[in-house]
Amino acid sequence: RVHRIAVIPGDGIGTEVMPEGLRVLQAAAERFGIGLAFDHFDFACWPYYERHGQMLPDDWRERIGGHDAIFFGAVGWPAKIPDHVSLWGSLLQFRRAFDQYVNLRPARLMPGVRSPLVRRDGTPRAPGEIDMLIVRENTEGEYSSIGGRMFEGTERELVVQETVMTRHGVDRVLRYAFELARSRPRKHLTSATKSNGIAITMPYWDERVRAMAAAYPDVQVDQYHIDILTAHFVQRPEAFDVVVASNLFGDILSDLAPACTGTIGIAPSANLNPERRYPSLFEPVHGSAPDIAGRGIANPIGQIWSGALMLDFLGYRQAHDAIVRAIEVVLDPANGGPRTPDLGGHARTADVGRAVADALRHG
Ligand code: NAI
Ligand code: MG
Repeated sequence: RVHRIAVIPGDGIGTEVMPEGLRVLQAAAERFGIGLAFDHFDFACWPYYERHGQMLPDDWRERIGGHDAIFFGAVGWPAKIPDHVSLWGSLLQFRRAFDQYVNLRPARLMPGVRSPLVRRDGTPRAPGEIDMLIVRENTEGEYSSIGGRMFEGTERELVVQETVMTRHGVDRVLRYAFELARSRPRKHLTSATKSNGIAITMPYWDERVRAMAAAYPDVQVDQYHIDILTAHFVQRPEAFDVVVASNLFGDILSDLAPACTGTIGIAPSANLNPERRYPSLFEPVHGSAPDIAGRGIANPIGQIWSGALMLDFLGYRQAHDAIVRAIEVVLDPANGGPRTPDLGGHARTADVGRAVADALRHG
C-alpha cells in the first residue's frame, strides 16, 4: 500500500526544514519498506497570496482532502500579510474542514537539550525524565464563534462569547486520551479544568472524565484545576504522562510543556482525525521564524519528529521509534553530532537532516 502525503512547506523556515523532514521520511521508508508518495503544493504561503489574493485555491479540499496525511511546515509572514489572514486562511481551515479534533503535542526531554527547569535540589533532569503527551480538544470549547457585541462605543458596551461543549465532542477527545494513556507504560492520565470558577461547562468535562474512566480501570486518573496544574508542570514535569484538556487550557499547556523541555525548534505536533475520515496534519510547533529565515540555520528536528508522528499514525510505530532514537543519537553530546545555533552549535539545517537520516540508516 502506498500512502499519499500532501506536502505543504508554507512560509519562511517552513521551506527550509521541510526538505530535511522529507529526507528522513525517505530514509525511514527505505529501511522499513513503507510506501510513501509525496505531492507538493505551493499554497498556504505569502508568495501564493501575492499572486492569487487568497491563501488557498478554491478547490483545496478536493486537492488535499483525499490524501492519507498532510505534512506541513509553517505559515505566516507578518511583514506581508496579517497573521489572522494567513493562519485563518490556511491552517485553521484545514483543522476545521478535516475535523482534526485532537491536537497532540509530545514534550520529551532529549539528550543534549537542557530543560530550563532544575529540580528543587538544583540538579538537572536526565533525558527522557520529562516525557508527556498533551492532548488538546481542537474543535469546540472556549473557541466557539457564538457570541456578540452590543451597545458598541457606548458606556453600556457588552461582549459575550460562549463556551460550547457537546457530549460527542468531549467524549471523543477523552476516549482518544484514555486509549493513548492505556498504550503507555505509566498508564496515567491527567485532566485539566477549572470547575471551582467556571461552574457549568468545566464540571461537565469532569463528569465525562469520570464516566470515561469507568471504562478504563487500568488507567490512573488525576484531575486538576488549570492554575495549580501550570505550577506542577514547572515544579515536577516528570510526574505527567498523558494530559488532556479543553481547547483553551490545552492551548496553554501545549506551549508550556514543550517550553519545559527546551528549544521550540525540536517540538512536534499532530492535528488528528482519529477516525481517518479526513487527512490528519503533522507540523512542527514553531512558526516561520522570519528572524532567521533564509540563512539555512533553522533546526529541522521539529519537522523531522513530526514526520515520525505521521508514520506512527499511519501504522508504523517501529519507524516512529527509530526516528526518535536517531534524533536522540544526533543530539547526544557524547556523539558530537551537528547542532544548529539554537542548540549552541554552528551546524546548518541540512547537516542535521543528513545526520539524522544516517543515524536512522545505521541505527
Ligand atoms: P516562531 O516559532 O516562528 O519563532 C519564535 C522564535 O523561535 C524565533 O526567535 C525563531 O527564530 C525561533 N525558532 C523557531 N523555530 C526555530 C527553529 N526551527 N530553529 C531555530 N530557531 C527557531 O514564532 P513567531 O516569531 O512568533 O511567529 C512567526 C510567524 O510564524 C508568525 O507569522 C506566526 O503567526 C507564525 N506561526 C505559525 C505557526 C504555524 O504555522 N503552525 C505556529 C506559530 C507561529
Ligand atoms: Mg498556541
